[in-house]
Amino acid sequence: MKSLIFYYSRTGNTANVAQVLHKAIKSDIEEVKDRKDRSGILGYLNSGKDALFGKEANIESIKSGLKDYNNIFIGGPVWALRPSTPVSTLIKRLDLKGKNIVLFVTCGGNPGKALEKMSSLTTASGGNVIYSFVVKTSKMDAARIAQASESEVVKFKETVIKKRT
Ligand SMILES: Cc1cc2nc3c(=O)[nH]c(=O)nc-3n(C[C@H](O)[C@H](O)[C@H](O)COP(=O)(O)O)c2cc1C
Repeated sequence: MKSLIFYYSRTGNTANVAQVLHKAIKSDIEEVKDRKDRSGILGYLNSGKDALFGKEANIESIKSGLKDYNNIFIGGPVWALRPSTPVSTLIKRLDLKGKNIVLFVTCGGNPGKALEKMSSLTTASGGNVIYSFVVKTSKMDAARIAQASESEVVKFKETVIKKRT
């Protein structure tokens, strides 16, 4: 069962989680790249506004073909209690028919309805959400985020293996 991780990360937290997952589950991995400049305070404000209004993001084309993968992980940050727009756009564009999907987000402390929204977009794209998780990053350095991610990987493996046995 081959697995692939797609992740978008504006400031590195979700990238950190994705790398921990990548090592733990021995998957392939691809970063989702957004063409919009989201740096600095203006980038922050525009990102919040984009999420609030559900704006389509101008993401680069995905390089991985999905044909060879049974399991696809999709992760990104929470913006304004919603999924980040590069992640929403990605999910809308993918054909996820017949795929098992694991969703994950990072957030300061309040994920709002981000996972629920990602889940309904995934269903609309034909995917079957089998698991989802949140990593809260507020006041955590990279090492602690990696540690929290490892705990989430353990829970994920326990839950998914239990369901299948
Ligand atoms: C525009 C914007 C809005 C955000 N809104 C929320 C929010 O509603 N709830 C929350 O807990 N964190 C929020 N955050 C914090 C990020 O979700 C958090 O720092 C995340 O780990 C960043 O991930 P990244 O480094 O992969 O981009 C927001 C960040 C940005 C840039």
